[in-house]
Amino acid sequence: MRPPIVSIDGVTKRFGETAAVDQVSIDIQANEFFALLGPSGCGKTTLLRMLAGFETPNEGRILIDGDDMTRVPPNRRPVNMVFQSYAVFPHMTVEANVAYGLKVEGIGGAELRRRVDEALAMVRLENFRARKPDQLSGGQRQRVALARALIKRPKVLLLDEPLSALDKKLREQMQLELVRLQHEVGITFVMVTHDQEEALSMANRIAVMDHGRVLQIADPRTLYEHPTHRFVAEFIGTVNSLDVEVRSVDGPHARIRHPLLGEITVERAAPDVERGVVVARPEKLRLDFSAPPVDGEILLDAVVEQIAYYGDLSFVFVRCPDGTALQISRYNVNRQDKGDPAAGSLCRVGIHPDDLLLVGTG
Ligand SMILES: Nc1ncnc2c1ncn2[C@@H]1O[C@H](COP(=O)(O)OP(=O)(O)OP(=O)(O)O)[C@@H](O)[C@H]1O
Ligand SMILES: [Mg+2]
Repeated sequence: MRPPIVSIDGVTKRFGETAAVDQVSIDIQANEFFALLGPSGCGKTTLLRMLAGFETPNEGRILIDGDDMTRVPPNRRPVNMVFQSYAVFPHMTVEANVAYGLKVEGIGGAELRRRVDEALAMVRLENFRARKPDQLSGGQRQRVALARALIKRPKVLLLDEPLSALDKKLREQMQLELVRLQHEVGITFVMVTHDQEEALSMANRIAVMDHGRVLQIADPRTLYEHPTHRFVAEFIGTVNSLDVEVRSVDGPHARIRHPLLGEITVERAAPDVERGVVVARPEKLRLDFSAPPVDGEILLDAVVEQIAYYGDLSFVFVRCPDGTALQISRYNVNRQDKGDPAAGSLCRVGIHPDDLLLVGTG
């Protein structure tokens, strides 16, 4: 296997007493679309700024393409950063904005023209070259910022919340664009986001951060279906969490007890998880019994308390006799569908032990 293009090795960054980034180690492979995901203030931007060279770690080191970056200033690093605020020059045309970085390096003439054309084509702005930024939409301005970064042919492109200023529709469009662009240019992308759907749908792998620490690094499906921490389970999507008593653990399994579920065997998220909560995703629970119960499914009686209708799917909030609240999502598959059960009605909830996971709370 090739060595990682980015190697973050035991990096800590303190501002005063608090560690904004705390003992973080991540290896990123060439050509990956890698996302740093976590809530506000968890240290995402600080980590990205250390990769770019705008901050210096207190501990640990950063290698890019095998070279130690400790003493390498930002302008000598093989990376480029796209800032959340775009940072395009308002008085310059699109073309001049894109050309700027190369001009500063003394590149001109045919070479400059060729690379500007190439960069504008990458972001599909060939027909906008004479416009000024205030004559562009938010999405087009973001593309100018991308072209400005890509024209320097960095080995790694760093993107700090690149789409957060765009409205929902445009953001979804630009998400597809960015993934396409990354495939085309074959540059490693490291993107910061606090939007879990954005990270899941765009990245090959994601590091989930909280309070400066990395809790889990995995591909989107593993993060969603096999989170190792309660925090990860709750941050990525929605989850039902049940407090359980762990009776015993055996390899990848745990024997647990819960008043509603009885004593059952469930999967453990990691070998060191010996107590914690059991989590279940809302779409894994069943409310509709048009199909017969699956072998091993546990059926619970409940009362429907509330329904949230989103068009394509509905969230149904129910409560069991012992007070346990659960949420179940169901797709509105047919237009002729009867729809959701009414609030106040009695229902049954089906849970299969295979869809439960014991996760650590630490
Ligand atoms: N220059 C600084 N001086 C002091 N504290 C800082 C500095 N920069 C960041 N911090 C602190 O470090 C922590 C991490 O900040 P950072 O900007 O990396 O978070 P973030 O994950 O990017 O958050 P957001 O999603 O809100 O952008 C925060 O508590 C922040 O207040
Ligand atoms: Mg930030």
